[in-house]
Amino acid sequence: SIVRISSDAVARACGSAEVERAFTEAGCTVERVSGWGMHWLEPVVEVDGIGYAEVTAADVSAILGGSSDKAIGAIAEHPWISSQQRLTFARAGRTRPLSMEDYEATGGWAGLNRARRIGPEAIVEEVTSSGLRGRGGAGFPAGIKWQTVAGAQAARKYIVCNADEGDSGTFADRMLIEGDPFALIEGMAIAALAVGAQKGFVYLRSEYPDAIVTLNAAIDLAAAKIAPFEIEVRVGAGAYVCGEETSLLNSLEGKRGEVRAKPPLPALQGLFGQPTVVNNVLTLAAVPHVLMDGGSAQYGSLGMGRSKGTMPIQLAGNIKHGGLYETAFGITLGELVNEIGGGTASGRPVKAVQVGGPLGAYIHPDQFDLPFDYEAYAGADALIGHGGVTVFDDHADMAEMARFAFQFCAAESCGKCTPCRIGAVRGRELIGRILDGGREADALERAPQMHNTSTATRSRAEEVTLLEDLCEVMKDGSLCALGGFTPYPVLSAIRNWPEDFGLPPRGET
Ligand code: NAI
Ligand code: SF4
Repeated sequence: SIVRISSDAVARACGSAEVERAFTEAGCTVERVSGWGMHWLEPVVEVDGIGYAEVTAADVSAILGGSSDKAIGAIAEHPWISSQQRLTFARAGRTRPLSMEDYEATGGWAGLNRARRIGPEAIVEEVTSSGLRGRGGAGFPAGIKWQTVAGAQAARKYIVCNADEGDSGTFADRMLIEGDPFALIEGMAIAALAVGAQKGFVYLRSEYPDAIVTLNAAIDLAAAKIAPFEIEVRVGAGAYVCGEETSLLNSLEGKRGEVRAKPPLPALQGLFGQPTVVNNVLTLAAVPHVLMDGGSAQYGSLGMGRSKGTMPIQLAGNIKHGGLYETAFGITLGELVNEIGGGTASGRPVKAVQVGGPLGAYIHPDQFDLPFDYEAYAGADALIGHGGVTVFDDHADMAEMARFAFQFCAAESCGKCTPCRIGAVRGRELIGRILDGGREADALERAPQMHNTSTATRSRAEEVTLLEDLCEVMKDGSLCALGGFTPYPVLSAIRNWPEDFGLPPRGET
């Protein structure tokens, strides 16, 4: 039998190497394929078309004997997979990551070949008309960014892929690079053709050791295919702020990872001062599909409003079914968390969902009808960011989560601007005072004859007003999204769960 086992880092962490050894010892041929993205079922094994979940070495003889109770049927027909609309992750679970043969057999290089035929202007036009927007978080139209770089006059231009996936609860960039590295390489080669760039860099985080090895191997294999364009991998050193495009460029240049003021835009003066496309892994990996025959029109026909195509959404945190779910924009948060995700892993009620990484807003279940769409989230004072959805049950203390947001910002701040460098520290102290004030007030309530509790409550409310003012300053005055977005988790926590801050619950004054 041919046995296919996911080679994703999640499967490896769940013991897939031992499972592979057991199948090999039983005389089977084992193929390591990309992960399907059903993280809660890893290690996933496929034998003669039938899938098995959470497999251990002890399950091997029952699986081969046909009596295993771990069978989940044909994986492609599993509701989690069959209900998705996978374009960027179309190969997930189906191909060997470093097999050029598998890549070509599944439509690989069709986008690049066509791009070479139609030429730079038509490439930019197709990317623009597909509606593809930057998947790193900001959602800026990819075609317009490319147009700016294409129109710039310079001796050298660069394509920089941002693979510094720092958001907590996100893993789509890692999965793509580990599972389908040629798709990223093809997307970068198409971008290079479109704007006239000679060289590309992938800024890949050191925390993804498997992805570093796989991508380097894939670049060697694909070198002739993308020539004369060349790609080099540069490994980051672990600073969250190096995911911000200008500090990433500084880091690539060998400088301290400090944010640069914009303008000038990287599109005009980016790496080494030259016009540079900086795009996220998911943006570039979507490009080969967009450039295939009819791909742009198909992409543009999916989604809602100005959010076109599909989004690889990452379900994580306290969730029963965690993993990668790619679907057209427009799906509601309630569907994602309750139906697809199956609610919390702990079985307790969902209290909050943080969408968009550590700087994303905490969303209350009464906003679960919010559709996944850049503008709808912006309208709800939230962001979809890189598509991370992290679930919390009713044990979460939202004041502690707000304090953590400031703590995170203080630790990761590059220090360049005052609202972030100092504001984050003051914010952390303020929440400490609010919580200590709360504890003090609780103590006072237990001994009311000694103190005036209303004074304690009022001063806590005043501290909250001060906190809100601080958030306004950080939002308006920070140079980049790290300081500018930290208010999102803080303000949403206060707005939705005031009782966690010792304030009257929502609806009560
Ligand atoms: P931004 O709004 O300043 O810029 C978006 C992109 O468009 C940039 O690449 C910018 O250079 C480009 N751009 C803007 N105007 C342009 C023009 N006229 N021509 C050509 N290019 C133009 O947003 P920023 O600060 O780059 O990103 C913020 C986002 O990053 C947030 O939404 C957040 O969700 C996300 N983020 C993602 C993380 C991750 O792990 N992927 C981590 C932290 C934040
Ligand atoms: Fe640096 Fe923070 Fe200012 Fe961004 S907001 S430039 S991380 S100090």
